[in-house]
Amino acid sequence: MRIAMIGTGYVGLVSGACFSEFGVNVVCVDKDASKIDRLNRGEIPIYEPGLEDLVAKNVKAGRLSFSLDLAASVADADAVFIAVGTPSRRGDGHADLSYVYAAAEEIARGMNDYTVVVTKSTVPVGTGREVARIIRKTRPDVDFGVASNPEFLREGSAIGDFLRPDRVVIGTDSDRARAVMRALYRPLYLIETPIVMTSLETAELIKYAANTFLATKITFINEIADLCEKVGADVHDVAKGIGLDGRIGKKFLHPGPGYGGSCFPKDTLALVRTAQDYGSPLRIVETVVDINTKRKRSMADRIIEACGGDVDGKSIAVLGVTFKPNTDDMRDSPSLDIIPALQEKGAIIRAFDPAGRHEAEKLLPGVVWCGDAYETLEGASAIALLTEWNEFRVLDLKRVRELMKTPVMVDLRNVYNPDDMEMAGFAYTCVGRPS
Ligand code: UGA
Repeated sequence: MRIAMIGTGYVGLVSGACFSEFGVNVVCVDKDASKIDRLNRGEIPIYEPGLEDLVAKNVKAGRLSFSLDLAASVADADAVFIAVGTPSRRGDGHADLSYVYAAAEEIARGMNDYTVVVTKSTVPVGTGREVARIIRKTRPDVDFGVASNPEFLREGSAIGDFLRPDRVVIGTDSDRARAVMRALYRPLYLIETPIVMTSLETAELIKYAANTFLATKITFINEIADLCEKVGADVHDVAKGIGLDGRIGKKFLHPGPGYGGSCFPKDTLALVRTAQDYGSPLRIVETVVDINTKRKRSMADRIIEACGGDVDGKSIAVLGVTFKPNTDDMRDSPSLDIIPALQEKGAIIRAFDPAGRHEAEKLLPGVVWCGDAYETLEGASAIALLTEWNEFRVLDLKRVRELMKTPVMVDLRNVYNPDDMEMAGFAYTCVGRPS
């Protein structure tokens, strides 16, 4: 089997590398010449554990290559995956589909023979039909099928998520396209992965419904955490106590500063807009979006409060700025709300992130970047732990205390135990637990 993956962003690169690991011949295509050059030199433009090795292995085996030439890559492919970006459109929150449609047209021009055109990008309901219309209009002479095959991988554990997924969703109306998709995912059939075969529209909606449900779950536990603080309850025990009920499930019940990243904020908003457009508003999701936006902004207030109500001229040590660990992704990260709000109140921010600094420097002016966690602490009036990187879980608390001006820690990821922190002499604030 031979496929072309259009777009070497997060989803495209990981999916392309993983399909090649399945034994498929994959060419990953991008318009960005410097990106293709770097990939051809073995440099991976994103931070994802295991990806560099997987790419190197499959390039060496001759199953994975990178190209600028879309037409040539599409010409002899059994399937072409569209994995280009679908950012939020400015102003209205709808997904911007211009890259998807431009790719569809270009693919159509390059097609030779029967080809399945698959959308892997997260696209609103109706996009697959529009892709089919564009292809038909551009190339009435060529036979093709259209499918939707949304991706459920998480940054930081993307390869495992692709190679051993909970399920695969394939939406198409064509038997021939279904057979091609089945052949591509053959290794997953062998490990008995559930495959949901459905229509185009349903597959498109499954992706949004999944992300929106998870975002709602997080927002629910965040609000329960707020209530826990008022009534003196422990949110982790609440999460455990409800999560053990199989109907609820224990995952995605970890409270924090609000969800961020390249998917949940964008997808929840896009689904809200789609639902409004169809006259079937999703009021729960509208509320989730609103609560999460306000939550991220309000986190700075917790830090200010922990500093006695004033951070003017005080040094705050920020540990972690990415939206979650094991990624360098800064998109919609809570730190982008928290740090500027603290700076506005006169705080001096000294920050460290194991992978995010390069991106963060462009987005967070005025931050003093440090080489490790301990360097941020010199003379600090408080620590704000914003991202739960593993190395922040094992800080030498004695050394931390000695370096700081005042031993105050605001742990927005509940990495530490309140009793241990008290014993270690810290004024400790966390989320939804008595402290
Ligand atoms: C998310 C989904 O989890 C994937 O299934 C999906 O494929 C992906 O979006 C996508 O649409 O491409 P991702 O954005 O990489 O993956 O990250 P998550 O691990 O889901 O975390 C998202 C945000 O929720 C982070 O800010 C994280 O800190 C927060 N979160 C997550 C919590 O606050 N609590 C939790 O219990 C879990």
